[in-house]
Amino acid sequence: MLLLKTEYTLWGVNMINFSNLIYLPVDVPNPPKGAVEFFDTIDYKDMIVDTYRTCHHIPIMDKDGTFSSEAKEVKGLVEWFENEIFTWSMPARMRIITTPPGGHNACHIDCSPDRIGTWQHKFRYVFQGDRTTLIFNNKEEDVRIHDVDKCYIMDGAWPHEMLNTTNKRKYTLTLGAPWEPQSDDKKYVEVLQRSYNKYKNYYISSEKWQLPENWKSLFQPEYDDQLYLLENYNGA
Ligand SMILES: [Fe+2]
Repeated sequence: MLLLKTEYTLWGVNMINFSNLIYLPVDVPNPPKGAVEFFDTIDYKDMIVDTYRTCHHIPIMDKDGTFSSEAKEVKGLVEWFENEIFTWSMPARMRIITTPPGGHNACHIDCSPDRIGTWQHKFRYVFQGDRTTLIFNNKEEDVRIHDVDKCYIMDGAWPHEMLNTTNKRKYTLTLGAPWEPQSDDKKYVEVLQRSYNKYKNYYISSEKWQLPENWKSLFQPEYDDQLYLLENYNGA
């Protein structure tokens, strides 16, 4: 099958097959500085509580594409999204995952069982915190991402967890549903390919990984009635 090859031709260009992408820095300018100072003024009681991922969220955009009042407080942030990010992605739900000092965001999977097997690429940027404390669990070992101060794409369908080993809050920007780019999204794949050409030394692939034994227990409980779909699924 064409898509299982490591490289393939798309739109007349040789492309890497990103179906096994776990982590890749993205070749776009970083967001404006100054966000952290504002985020630090927001109390946990004013954030969204996520009991599944055990963390707090600061809202940036709702799933219909409306920026929050918090997003508008950060000088240049809205413009950065419009000029650098939405030119190849789309407005979608965005939040700042806030992990307190010493905190642990539980191991989880960021999609429903019926989306396993599709691309579940998620856009992230760590505004503050140790970038290497995003950890992917596979059967053999836990793999940490690289310490690269860039936005990145990660695989939300692979079990992952996050720590904060510093004495300050960790802030991670997330861009989520309903944006779900697939391999036929030309603008997106071109950004991936450009990013791969620049950051291939940091690329992490799941090509040789196996899912951990307990992976079916890591979905959000509201999807339990879909777990039967995974009965014969044996990993990437
Ligand atoms: Fe996640």
